[in-house]
Amino acid sequence: MRKRIIAGNWKMNLTPKQAKELILELSPKVKHAACEVVVCPPAVDLQAVSEAISGTNIVLGAQNVHWKESGAYTGEISAKMLLELGVKYVIIGHSERRQYFGETDETVNMRALFALESGLVPIICVGESLETRESGTTNEFVSNQIKAALKGMSKEQVKGIVIAYEPIWAIGTGKTATSAEAYEAISAIRSTIADIYDESVANLVRIQYGGSMNSRNASELLAMENIDGGLIGGASLKADDFAAICAAASK
Ligand code: 13P
Repeated sequence: MRKRIIAGNWKMNLTPKQAKELILELSPKVKHAACEVVVCPPAVDLQAVSEAISGTNIVLGAQNVHWKESGAYTGEISAKMLLELGVKYVIIGHSERRQYFGETDETVNMRALFALESGLVPIICVGESLETRESGTTNEFVSNQIKAALKGMSKEQVKGIVIAYEPIWAIGTGKTATSAEAYEAISAIRSTIADIYDESVANLVRIQYGGSMNSRNASELLAMENIDGGLIGGASLKADDFAAICAAASK
């Protein structure tokens, strides 16, 4: 019922030229993928990647969007700019943005609402720190992040969004959540959505796992019926690794 979605978050890596080269290498390797294949390059690479993915099954995502249509917001990117380049998805609320760039639950909510109103699909990131996990309050923490992020969203809007559960301690550390840990947090997220809306809405929302997902652990994580894909950092920068994850998600 939920089509799996594997998205590469390239973070602050690759120049436009390198981005194009990666797409040229990647596109033949993922052309038979049964999952949705998304790449989210840095903003300045979007034009080059948009051209390079033309005629392929790769879909374009961005890493940020502002909540206003236009104006005096130095350094920010508008939804209209993204849409003109063929962007479909946009990552919002990544823990790196929350940690280093002052992103809050409130700005995550504003960005997500405006993205939806503009016709972009938000990939909303949530996830706990090691401290929160060790204190045993992970489910409550991610549930609160979800409640804040979805504030003011209609049922129809929520149905189409993507959520990425990314435990902060697993990002870039090589330490992956076990499939059971990921399953439990993702179940908590889904039941929070069911509480706010209803079960049928919750069953339509795609929830990815992210955090050191790679070609070796993807199959086990994706075997959990609740995990609808992955948000991939490091491994999305290597065509073979990313293609292997897409293949695992296509089974
Ligand atoms: P890594 O796959 O490098 O751990 O990054 C995960 C991530 O943050 C994706 O958004």
